[in-house]
Amino acid sequence: STPALVDAFGRTIDYLRVSVTDRCDLRCTYCLPEAFKGFEEPANWLSHQEMGRLVGLFVAMGTRHVRLTGGEPLTRRALPDVVRHIAALPGLRDLSLSTNGTRLDRLALTLREAGVQRLNISLDSLDADCMARITGRDCLADVLRGIEAARAAGFSPIKLNMVVQPGVNDHEVEAMVDFALRHALVLRLIEPMPMGDTGRATPRCDLSSFTEALAARLGLLPQVLGRGAGPARYWQDPVGGMSLGVITPMSQHFCETCNRVRLGVDGTLYLCLGQDQQVPLGALLRQGASDATLREAILAGIAAKPARHEFNERREKIVRFMAQTGG
Ligand code: GTP
Ligand code: 5AD
Ligand code: SF4
Repeated sequence: STPALVDAFGRTIDYLRVSVTDRCDLRCTYCLPEAFKGFEEPANWLSHQEMGRLVGLFVAMGTRHVRLTGGEPLTRRALPDVVRHIAALPGLRDLSLSTNGTRLDRLALTLREAGVQRLNISLDSLDADCMARITGRDCLADVLRGIEAARAAGFSPIKLNMVVQPGVNDHEVEAMVDFALRHALVLRLIEPMPMGDTGRATPRCDLSSFTEALAARLGLLPQVLGRGAGPARYWQDPVGGMSLGVITPMSQHFCETCNRVRLGVDGTLYLCLGQDQQVPLGALLRQGASDATLREAILAGIAAKPARHEFNERREKIVRFMAQTGG
């Protein structure tokens, strides 16, 4: 029998996002407060062996895709060990990583050799001042070097994530399209989600009609992808060059096709990005729980996965910061 994790709404949950740290070397306005110093005592952080054990249980229960996130995952020293451990799990089909790119110059090749297959890299602007305003640091040159190192290391595809903020970087979308085209990268435009009190307002942005108009202008055709392909909808250049994705959690959510849950760096299982339900798998593990007990807790969690986020309906923001689950 093929094991599978299926939730109460019939969704197969075969994608696990694993945050390996909640710290970051940048302070993006929509992600972390400026004075952010960390959430958790590092004593609560799972070791790479403990992470490997939890992820191993998920993979044995039907998880096929694992994406490593942060915070900024490349700030965690044990990252290559985490990657090697997870890449060796039998049954895993796809190991990917989301990064801000600042440290890729040094680490891209190590990560590729350790077993990361796909990379998503954040890039909100091609203007150094604008990047510094958004991220809190003069980091554009580092990130561009990181993208180049990722290409040289052979990652494919490489997706660029651009969180679009009206009045901040929306005028740069066409320049980003051009950049992606020239470097054979996939560009994804993302609507900001209101997560955690970062001390800066999360701007509203409706990318649904914006992207349709842009795709029409560029002569891109909608790409039809199967269920569970992820939150992005894609357009493609019929001649094969450009691939443009749009992620619209606010204007047109994709929760009916949700295929994922998240593990925090302390082993907390978060059942939905936009909801509070969680299972303390890490604490159970530290109390000496058996694999059978952990499997039961995972099943109970999946059964309690909410139908959808309620970013547009809820009065209070989700308290946790984006960096706690890495998106
Ligand atoms: P692939 O499709 O596997 O390449 O990755 P991805 O797009 O799921 O991952 P990535 O880390 O690049 O995330 C891109 C954006 O999608 C980020 O802004 C995430 O917060 C957002 N995102 C990813 N998964 C979900 C989800 O389940 N719900 C919502 N609302 N947003 C998500
Ligand atoms: N809304 C939408 N996307 C976000 N990201 C970080 N914070 C937010 C937010 N509030 C994105 C980053 C990164 C991805 C993992 O999540 O830009 O590319
Ligand atoms: Fe899944 Fe929640 Fe994201 Fe919707 S908001 S796609 S239910 S994780």
